[in-house]
Amino acid sequence: MTAQSSQSSRPSPSSPGAQPFRQDVAGDPWGLPPDVADTRPLPADFLWGGAVAAHQLEGGWDVGGKGPSVVDVLTAGARGVPRRITERVEPGEYYPNHEAIDFYHRYREDIALMAQMGLRCLRTSIAWSRIFPRGEEAEPNEEGLAFYDALIDELLAHGIQPVLTLSHFEMPLHLARSLGGFRNREVADHFVRFARVCFERYGDRVTYWMTFNEINNQMNVDNPLFLWTNSGVTLQAGDDPVEVMLRTGHNELVASARAVVVGHGLNPALRIGCMISSPTIYPWSCDPQDMMAFAVANRDRFLFPDVHVRGHYPAAWQRRVEREGWDLGVQPGDAEILAAGTVDYIGFSYYMSQVVRAGARADTSTSLNGGMPNSVDNPHLASTDWGWPVDPVGLRYTLNMLYERYELPLFVVENGFGAVDQVESDGSVHDPQRIDYLRSHIDQLKRAVLDDGVDLIGYTPWGIIDLVSFTTGEMRKRYGMIHVDRDDAGQGSLERRPKDSFEWYRRVIASNGAQLW
Ligand code: BG6
Repeated sequence: MTAQSSQSSRPSPSSPGAQPFRQDVAGDPWGLPPDVADTRPLPADFLWGGAVAAHQLEGGWDVGGKGPSVVDVLTAGARGVPRRITERVEPGEYYPNHEAIDFYHRYREDIALMAQMGLRCLRTSIAWSRIFPRGEEAEPNEEGLAFYDALIDELLAHGIQPVLTLSHFEMPLHLARSLGGFRNREVADHFVRFARVCFERYGDRVTYWMTFNEINNQMNVDNPLFLWTNSGVTLQAGDDPVEVMLRTGHNELVASARAVVVGHGLNPALRIGCMISSPTIYPWSCDPQDMMAFAVANRDRFLFPDVHVRGHYPAAWQRRVEREGWDLGVQPGDAEILAAGTVDYIGFSYYMSQVVRAGARADTSTSLNGGMPNSVDNPHLASTDWGWPVDPVGLRYTLNMLYERYELPLFVVENGFGAVDQVESDGSVHDPQRIDYLRSHIDQLKRAVLDDGVDLIGYTPWGIIDLVSFTTGEMRKRYGMIHVDRDDAGQGSLERRPKDSFEWYRRVIASNGAQLW
């Protein structure tokens, strides 16, 4: 931790060395007093689970007929050191996603461990280029389809419901390099074909789907990683970055809406959601200028979900596009498609909160989660070693805000604590800070559900098993409750071992959230 955590008056964490994260809510009139340990369970059908993404754990990047994807040309970085995007897979270059943690060959062992924890669902994604290696083929790759058949069946055999994202920062490299990614409308057609194949093949066994992971990350056009991984786009000389991002985003929103319509047409029981990055935004002060900066930051953050949920663009963004004279490449019939393909629920990630201050200037070129140009540090919060402010109360705030804004079921599909872990000489891994992070967030999530009435489908903490970090490509930034022996140079036995958080989460799930301590 890089800053001081404030103490709460809750029971002390059971694990030695743990320091509680700040979560006191003074004078909360809506539920339990802040200093009372909440032993209430969540509803019996609450989907406790874990979250991962294909490219961050599968490995097998060129196995089973898989084609290269946009993440297969990402080198390793570190905090403050951006990952490079190479033109193609270069000999001699290290690409951490190529082997990742070899889930492709070890998924049976991993699912058995997840079942021991009691997971009721696993959120993962389908590697698009396993199914369509170049993206343009008329027929899918049967070997790729069969891999996910086997994975889904293995999960179901262990009582774990699969929750699938269609594109979690992945598309076939060919679509990005040869067609320009989603900047090119044709790529939307390829995505819809991919989505249809997946719904047809797996829709009998998978209820919950999401179209694009954290589609709103690309609002930060200063960091090239986001346009590349969200959409397969690189900016060219002379481009207006925001215009390109909006055009690209429009094609993706249309693709998502078409996929929703296709999925519902095939099987009305499918629940197809969007997925957004949703760090809480706070204004720096009650200065009206800060409040206006806050309103504008939220307007930007929620542009994509506004369209996903409401089926049309918000008025302020329509005005801005007209004023700037931007061409989003909107085609006749798009308005009808967007209106017809609205989502069933909102999946979102929550790791941190951010603060906006009018006139502040922040460097957003390496920041995650839609980095805001006028963000400043929050003096009230501690941060992780990667500089992510830890704010459990912000999760309750965001759950309330999203539910009030959209009145749709919500699904927390990512939340977690990235940290360096130490394997002790006896093989144990003590991770009290991870336990405290998760406990304090679940505690606030319970208040949102039980006191505030938020309709929440489930909770899938990120990186239930250690995997490759998205922003940095590191292994040392670990989120898992299952440790994997692999380092940043790609060395290690790949052996799996439960951390302390494994047993803690097992108890949480078994008690339906009643036993957090
Ligand atoms: C989310 C992504 O933004 O954050 C995940 O959906 C990612 O893919 C997660 O791994 C954590 O980020 P990082 O960079 O710490 O791996």
